[in-house]
Amino acid sequence: MKHIVKIGLAAAGLVALSTAALSDGHSGFEKQIKARQAVMQIYSFNIGSLAAMVKGEAEYDAAKAQGFADNLLAAAKMKNGAMWPQGSDAEALPGKTRALKLNWTNYPEAAKKQEAFVAAAEAASKAASGGMDALKGALGGLGGGCKGCHEKFRKPKE
Ligand code: HEC
Repeated sequence: MKHIVKIGLAAAGLVALSTAALSDGHSGFEKQIKARQAVMQIYSFNIGSLAAMVKGEAEYDAAKAQGFADNLLAAAKMKNGAMWPQGSDAEALPGKTRALKLNWTNYPEAAKKQEAFVAAAEAASKAASGGMDALKGALGGLGGGCKGCHEKFRKPKE
């Protein structure tokens, strides 16, 4: 009897798992899109916090600046391939994502943009605690990294 209950539970577990896999929506890619947009939000929060110091909206604090820059670098260096599956573009899934198809059809260039951004984040992580002027320079590089990719690979807001 005990045995049968166990098997029943295991089967229920399997059903739950496969339902989760299905709701992952092999066509919808909701989870993947949510995850990559969340990474972008992490970028946004940390670069915004650095920008606030440069603009004088927040006091410059070397340790905090270092933290924000390190967060950016860590997020930029995440292995993110699984968050960008083929077919999860704005043409296939209008209204769900702003990732242009070009991210896949011109992958080498998209990857270069990402590499350039990682390099800017590395420079920022070296500069952030070195004073306001150093932070200012680094912020310019970081912002250029976001913009450089968005201009070509992100669909403009409608
Ligand atoms: C290599 C390319 C690339 C780089 C670098 C990049 N982005 Fe993005 N970003 C995108 C793409 C593509 C999207 C659209 C993603 C989607 O909707 O699936 C996006 C979306 C966003 C969004 C909207 C997220 C949401 O919730 O829908 C924000 C905010 C954002 N990026 C901020 C930034 C900031 C800030 C930086 C730099 C610190 C940055 N991004 C760097 C390509 C990039």
